[in-house]
Amino acid sequence: AKDPVRVLVTGAAGQIGYALVPMIARGVMLGSDQPVILHMLDIPPAAEALNGVKMELVDAAFPLLKGVVATTDVTEACAGVNIAIMVGGFPRKEGMERKDVMSKNVSIYKSQASALEKHAAANCKVLVVANPANTNALILKEFAPSIPEKNISCLTRLDHNRALGQVSEKLNVQVCDVKNVIIWGNHSSTQYPDVNHATVKTPAGEKPVRELVADDEWLKGEFIATVQQRGAAIIKARKFSSALSAASSACDHIRDWVLGTPEGTWVSMGVYSDGSYNVPTGLIYSFPVTCRNGEWSIVQGLGIDEYSRKKLDLTAEELSEEKALAYSCLS
Ligand code: NAI
Repeated sequence: AKDPVRVLVTGAAGQIGYALVPMIARGVMLGSDQPVILHMLDIPPAAEALNGVKMELVDAAFPLLKGVVATTDVTEACAGVNIAIMVGGFPRKEGMERKDVMSKNVSIYKSQASALEKHAAANCKVLVVANPANTNALILKEFAPSIPEKNISCLTRLDHNRALGQVSEKLNVQVCDVKNVIIWGNHSSTQYPDVNHATVKTPAGEKPVRELVADDEWLKGEFIATVQQRGAAIIKARKFSSALSAASSACDHIRDWVLGTPEGTWVSMGVYSDGSYNVPTGLIYSFPVTCRNGEWSIVQGLGIDEYSRKKLDLTAEELSEEKALAYSCLS
């Protein structure tokens, strides 16, 4: 039998946490033959709710779940973890300045970076979900210098999956037959959902989405806007954030990273830019990646037309501004 993997979920008493921990305990993230020990962290005001989640995990009698640590102590939460899903953060409240929200999250991610660096298992993989996801991940990277930068990522898989969903609805095809969309850049409304290299499996073979959706106006207009603004649309409808789909996409992100992407398929991950596609280095930016042996690599050599180039640059600019804002909060 395999040794259990320790998975940390921060903000575990929140909306996404509540949807995510049962998925992890069922093997959705790491496979149905992989035992897990869940480490759940939240802050003292949520301690009682966190304990309630722990009670439910016990009650669900998950065969793969070999232990649960529920704590408000960041050291205890990070001890020996192999995978860290960072969902906890400070939400933007009405009337708050962007800088104030940034400042709160910078201080959270700075201190949690230190705790991970000191107490996590060697080679711990980190996924930041909490917004601003790319910049929180960048701060985490900066303050955990002994964790390899390859091990620190942020979630844009939800945006990627949303793009697959929109194409499948438009073409009336199964979502599993659509692949290789790309989310470039920031997990924000400047992200660029790109279908220029995406394909659909049809009875007549694989066809480019560009050929099947002849409607360029839809691709450049409604499609992009829908994916960019889907989070807000869900909040409007549900009065809560998109917890179910975020949790499911976080599982997809880690599963593909650890177990590999299928042959001929790439996914989107926010990772530390190495300058590929002329994206500035020093940013956590979403790229198309393939994964093998637990490591991602950026898909190289895709053609970028002039329209796309502008979109890639625009979202990079926003990330550079966010980075500057985050650094101004540090000093
Ligand atoms: P939520 O407010 O329901 O839960 C957040 C939890 O984090 C709360 O239980 C809170 O007590 C906890 N928390 C706050 N500070 C903490 C700290 N210092 N350490 C540990 N826990 C802490 O929010 P929800 O809906 O679960 O969303 C979580 C985050 O994920 C938000 O930042 C949201 O914007 C983001 N998000 C990101 C998505 C993505 O695709 N990257 C998609 C959807 C949401």
